[in-house]
Amino acid sequence: MKLFVDSGNLEDIAGLVPLGIVDGVTTNPSLLAKAGGDPRAILKAICDTVKGPVSAEVVATDVHGMIREGRELAGIDEHIVVKVPFGKPGVQACGTLAGEGLRVNVTLVFSATQALLAAKAGATFVSPFVGRLDDIATPGMELISQIVDIYENYEFGTEVLVASVRGPVHIVEAGRLGADVCTCPPAVIEALFKHPLTDIGLAKFLSDWEEAQAAKV
Ligand code: G3P
Repeated sequence: MKLFVDSGNLEDIAGLVPLGIVDGVTTNPSLLAKAGGDPRAILKAICDTVKGPVSAEVVATDVHGMIREGRELAGIDEHIVVKVPFGKPGVQACGTLAGEGLRVNVTLVFSATQALLAAKAGATFVSPFVGRLDDIATPGMELISQIVDIYENYEFGTEVLVASVRGPVHIVEAGRLGADVCTCPPAVIEALFKHPLTDIGLAKFLSDWEEAQAAKV
């Protein structure tokens, strides 16, 4: 399973890349607004740092605007994946941009039928938002299971990119269901490393070692 960082914060991303477990990045207008500065420059710097797929979302709401903006975003760097919101304009723009050889991530997906349409439009990634479904008492991971089944039945090449991830359990469940990618806020990636028994075990190894060394002198 690929791990993407869901962030527009270059410092956070650059801190995680050396670990060798980051495959890409997803941004959205909210995340880039939070980062401040020039969004194009930030996207370029993220691409240079990650050297993997970096989703950059259009803010146009009409088909032609989305296509124009998608082409512009793709011009920033070869690693850019154009992100379009689901809807009739987004699906149509996805078909056009994919037809031109650009990679498209269809976002704000909350149902299996939406995911089916995104795949038919040639999306490289589909982004179902599991956390926001959980927030309204609808199990987000059930949607992932449905999409994975449908894509397998028809051998769609579209990758299931689990978004709106809120904690490690989402990642474990996504892995068990065979989702292709999880995009996670930096804090969730940090949490994947943690286990109290690892810390306790390491402290014991080191104290036993020190004790043995001290006994020798
Ligand atoms: O990138 C889109 C998605 O991951 C947003 O997550 O936490 O705002 O629902 P969240």
